Amino acid sequence: MPTYQINVNGKQESVEVASDTPVLWVLRDHLNLVGTKFGCGIGQCGACTIHVDGIAMRSCGLTLEMISGKAIRTIEGLSEYGEHPVQQAWKEIDVPQCGYCQAGQIMTASAFLEQNPTPSTEEIKNAMHGNICRCGTYNRIYKAVEKAAK
Ligand code: FES
Repeated sequence: MPTYQINVNGKQESVEVASDTPVLWVLRDHLNLVGTKFGCGIGQCGACTIHVDGIAMRSCGLTLEMISGKAIRTIEGLSEYGEHPVQQAWKEIDVPQCGYCQAGQIMTASAFLEQNPTPSTEEIKNAMHGNICRCGTYNRIYKAVEKAAK
């Protein structure tokens, strides 16, 4: 199997995997970064969202070749102790119910706020639209993104 170099959360990692292994499984099974979740595996739920050069992307649909030379950030690399403003707002608003989708939600929100630090409510809803929450915590998610933007 080929060996790939991957830059994750500021560290250079070396992984030996089949070339068609989705980045989601490289993170979870090879690098033990299990904060990135598997939901649908077909790019539709957002549970597996990571940052690729600061852009929110779904890791279940990415191959190692697609991220070659790019900086990957997972929920584990967003902050050391959960002090990122989005994580703080999530705690203050008490967003999660079951919690399963929340890492993906936070990764989408944090990349969005880096692009648009002062969004309107409509822009927040549009940005978060593709991240599914089976518990329906959407209103708390929107409030938390709004709070993190302040
Ligand atoms: Fe990747 Fe659902 S697991 S989008």
